[in-house]
Amino acid sequence: MTSRSEEAVLSALREVVGEAHVLVEPDMVAGYVRDWTGRWTGHTAAVIRPGSVEEVQALLRICHSARMAVVPQGGNTGLVGGSVPHHGEIVLSLRRLDQIGPIDTGKLSLTVGAGVTIGSVQEHARRAGLRYGIDLASRDSATIGGTIATNAGGTHVVSNGDTRRQVLGLEVVLADGTRLSRLDGMSKASLGPDPLQMMVGSEGTLGVITAARLRLLPVEAGAPMVVLVAVETLGEGLRFLGPEVRAIEFFDRACLEAVIEHRGLPKPLSSEAPFYVLIESLDPPRVPEDAVAVVDRTLWAYRESITETINGLGVPVKLDVAVPLDRVDGFAIAVKDLDLGGETYLFGHLAEGNFHVNVVGGHDPEAVVDRVLELVVGFDGVIASEHGIGVAKADWWRRTTEPAILEFQRRVKEALDPDRTMNPSVFWGD
Ligand code: FAD
Ligand code: MLT
Ligand code: ZN
Repeated sequence: MTSRSEEAVLSALREVVGEAHVLVEPDMVAGYVRDWTGRWTGHTAAVIRPGSVEEVQALLRICHSARMAVVPQGGNTGLVGGSVPHHGEIVLSLRRLDQIGPIDTGKLSLTVGAGVTIGSVQEHARRAGLRYGIDLASRDSATIGGTIATNAGGTHVVSNGDTRRQVLGLEVVLADGTRLSRLDGMSKASLGPDPLQMMVGSEGTLGVITAARLRLLPVEAGAPMVVLVAVETLGEGLRFLGPEVRAIEFFDRACLEAVIEHRGLPKPLSSEAPFYVLIESLDPPRVPEDAVAVVDRTLWAYRESITETINGLGVPVKLDVAVPLDRVDGFAIAVKDLDLGGETYLFGHLAEGNFHVNVVGGHDPEAVVDRVLELVVGFDGVIASEHGIGVAKADWWRRTTEPAILEFQRRVKEALDPDRTMNPSVFWGD
């Protein structure tokens, strides 16, 4: 696009949202073009901040007719490079869609704008004596739109399910400005194939999520207890699983030592072990009496500080994968044995066989990705457990997805976004 036609598009976009919501100065757009880890930095002609679904529709119509690509963005906490403009796309920041509707106590649900943070939804539900099923350390920045677009998991999937399970309905705007909406909050409906469910996990490539109807859960009686146990193997940790468990997380000794050193937290246990398992449970969990364990709610700080601590040590290569539960010990040993250069940190969501393999100061990122994902495939695992594909795993997604599924997904993309203006670098990018 020539700079003259680009200027004409920008001025049409300004007409829609007003001058104040079109950011073009380098210092103003800097936080929108760089991802949270610092591994990917792109560039953009402008960041546009719509304040309503009608504005999103108008903006997409303009971009669509000018064949100008857009990247939808929420809190920009995504970890696979999917939220930043790699090839000069317009950034559509949805954070101003921050309306929170009233809680529907009859249907145990509420409707919120895509830009509302997870923390705000949790707080809103809590004040009504309810809770939202998703929790993650990025809660104060990650948005409802972003977590739906990535089908985020987090720490309570074992008891509440992933984001897909919390979504009762959506409002979405397609690339050409068409609005699709179903926000009635009915938890059961048999109305044919559901186009809105396909938006869950679509990472901004099929449309822009503008609002969501979310399921809320009753609060259980009594405060859950939090226990940290030192274990020799992750298989040992899996034995603590039971119906009373709300969360079961693990981290290795490298993570714990880094968090203690860089966050100034005290040593939580007297003895050292290869792995630590944190359990949040409504009743005392099934931990043997002679285990080295400690009970304290503040223990979550160790687990939740890991991501920021690792980021402070250098730009990490982050792999988010999962393997079958009976193979977690084999995988943990094998991944530590890989020659990745640098320091490897392992942590994750144990009940789902999820591993966050983080490498700081290692070989070049592509080599690290290839070695870890080759191993995952050898262990019959999944290459993307909860963060999505983004640009980080696009190659591996194409290589490992069954051809008929890949073809189906391509046809859906072709039907909804034939001009490839919706987040073109993700999944199908170069
Ligand atoms: P963004 O980063 O802005 O975008 C992510 C993707 O969604 C992009 O492809 C973007 O184009 C698309 N998108 C964003 N908004 C919309 C929209 N309205 N419509 C359509 N597409 C959209 N993830 C987990 O799954 N589990 C965790 O436990 C977890 N913990 C984290 C802890 C920390 C400290 C950090 C920094 C990240 C963590 N994450 C975790 C990753 C991240 O928070 C999630 O991927 C989250 O879902 C991203 O939300 P966001 O609003 O920041 O989206
Ligand atoms: C986590 O579980 O802490 C997140 O998914 C973030 C990360 O992988 O760093
Ligand atoms: Zn995670």
